[in-house]
Amino acid sequence: QHPKQAWPYPEFVAHRGGGTLAPENTIAGFREGIRYGYRAAECDVKLSADNVCFLLHDDTVDRTSNGQGEAKSKTMAELSLLDAGGWKGAAFAGEALPTLANVAAHCLAQGMLLNIEIKPCPGRFEETGRLVAQEAARLWAGAAVPPLLSSFEIDALRAAQAAEPALPRAFLCEEVPVNWRAILAELDCVALHCDHKTLTEALARDIKAAGYQLLCYTVNDPADARRLLAWGVDSLCTDRLDLLPARG
Ligand code: G3P
Ligand code: MG
Repeated sequence: QHPKQAWPYPEFVAHRGGGTLAPENTIAGFREGIRYGYRAAECDVKLSADNVCFLLHDDTVDRTSNGQGEAKSKTMAELSLLDAGGWKGAAFAGEALPTLANVAAHCLAQGMLLNIEIKPCPGRFEETGRLVAQEAARLWAGAAVPPLLSSFEIDALRAAQAAEPALPRAFLCEEVPVNWRAILAELDCVALHCDHKTLTEALARDIKAAGYQLLCYTVNDPADARRLLAWGVDSLCTDRLDLLPARG
């Protein structure tokens, strides 16, 4: 009834938009991805107080903007007034904190694929999974390739699955849990995304043999990249677009 769509898993995916070459989770970051020939980027998405899907990694705006306080208590109008670039350097001053709609427009215009990491504010797991999935389906309606939804939060993924079952999903974890097969099956995921530091070759081969795509984050060393790709890892999420040339 709801045939799940695929996601191409290019070899390299830009972490938080453009890695560490530009302010994370901003359009300036996505421009770095285009500049380096990347086909895909990852970003972190949560809900404002008035339920707008927007990009931010942390629970608070303190580290990556000129504002202060918890993201979940700010409306999108308030978040829009913040400077999300000046902390990274004067060249980026005035960069806005983007909505998911801003990023969708940019990605669709540039032919960039997107991995949306659902990163809920504390206590908002289910509604974030549901509303991000619905907004993603609306924004990418009719697109050749849908956005990929991933999350560390099983409750958020479950809500995304219930709301938009056709959007591809990935279970995100630091260390792969022993019950990974059950989790991927229950959430009907296309992939597992894990921290490269704890992955073993045997586990990588088991995950691939089970028919799933496999992505590792955050891989910034070319030697690690070569080893992981040799193990059969499909995609590497990186901060260093300048060190890991996009190849596909
Ligand atoms: O989606 C992979 C990676 O982004 C997960 O870690 O903390 O950078 O969101 P984090
Ligand atoms: Mg992330």
